[in-house]
Amino acid sequence: MDAIRLPGLVDVHVHLREPGYEHKETLAQRHPRRIGRGITTVLDMPNTSPPTATLDRLAAKARLAAAAAVCDVGLFLGATRDTDPLITAAAAPYACGLKIYVSETFGSLRLEDLAQLMAFFRTWPGPGPIAVHAEGLLLATCLALAQLYGQHLHVCHVSRRSEIELIRRAKQHGAAVTCEVTPHHLWLCEDDLPRLAARGQMKPPLATAADRTALWANLDVIDCFATDHAPHTAAEKAGPQPPPGVPGLETMLPLLLTAVHEGRLTLDDLITRLHHNPTRIFHLPAGGQQAQTWVEVDAAAVYDLPASGYQTLCDWSPFSGYTVHGAVRRVVLRNQVVFADGVVLAAPGAGRVLAAPVVE
Ligand code: NCD
Ligand code: ZN
Repeated sequence: MDAIRLPGLVDVHVHLREPGYEHKETLAQRHPRRIGRGITTVLDMPNTSPPTATLDRLAAKARLAAAAAVCDVGLFLGATRDTDPLITAAAAPYACGLKIYVSETFGSLRLEDLAQLMAFFRTWPGPGPIAVHAEGLLLATCLALAQLYGQHLHVCHVSRRSEIELIRRAKQHGAAVTCEVTPHHLWLCEDDLPRLAARGQMKPPLATAADRTALWANLDVIDCFATDHAPHTAAEKAGPQPPPGVPGLETMLPLLLTAVHEGRLTLDDLITRLHHNPTRIFHLPAGGQQAQTWVEVDAAAVYDLPASGYQTLCDWSPFSGYTVHGAVRRVVLRNQVVFADGVVLAAPGAGRVLAAPVVE
């Protein structure tokens, strides 16, 4: 066996769906899957129902996660139209960042009003960054606002050539900007839509083959790989108005290890973008704890990603049928074996909620 040892991996963009959308996924089913795929920390997005916009809601979500988690969980706050930015800012010490939806997507969190955007950029105290879903020209708006208000901007799921080139330009000019890219934007493009139909629909949408090529060509500008794991049920996807979003937690590491196998990525590239950079950007616990958490991978394993048999309630993947290289054999979390040979050994609650507000 070609054994590889990786540090605990961080997925900085995951939709845990609780509270409010438990029919799409539940904490109890979801956490084992992450551990089994080598992800030992997930950062949860705020577009739940109700959205995570206040300290009370953050604390309620932290309680849910603390009871069920077998991996570590960080929580994003979300900017909403009807929550005072100062109220949201008061919960900042307990959050991994503030998420602002500037572009249209699933849920009702879109902020379009410039005065409101300015208010959130003015009042957010950090230490986590402001993470934005901002496509096209709206990305330029957010880059400008971050610069004007001295904020660290983290750009979620970059998908187009123009966007990655703009971020390169901003970095060259010393802007405090970081970004992430998803496996679906690296592996798929609009040419896959006839085959995938609604299962290929997400926000940002699949772009052109040239956009996809540009993401790979600008890998040095990409700080993190992140799934944007956004599960919706197979029935919802087959319905008349399929919601945007695709699951990704169970397929990210195998796909990226396959890119390493094919020489499109080095193992260092992978570790930097799934461990070192996420830890730095989102101020996650570093040092001793990290040394006690690791993932053992059999790099020689080759298999096809299945059509079903996933641990998500939605139980489908846009990558079904893809041949991948590399399987997780063992995961150790703070010196405890939490996954071995296909079996989750950790009890619910073995994971920690990062910087949680006091939960009894
Ligand atoms: C996400 C979801 O379903 O919550 N959907 C998506 O297509 N990415 C929302 C989001 O991250 O934009
Ligand atoms: Zn998302």
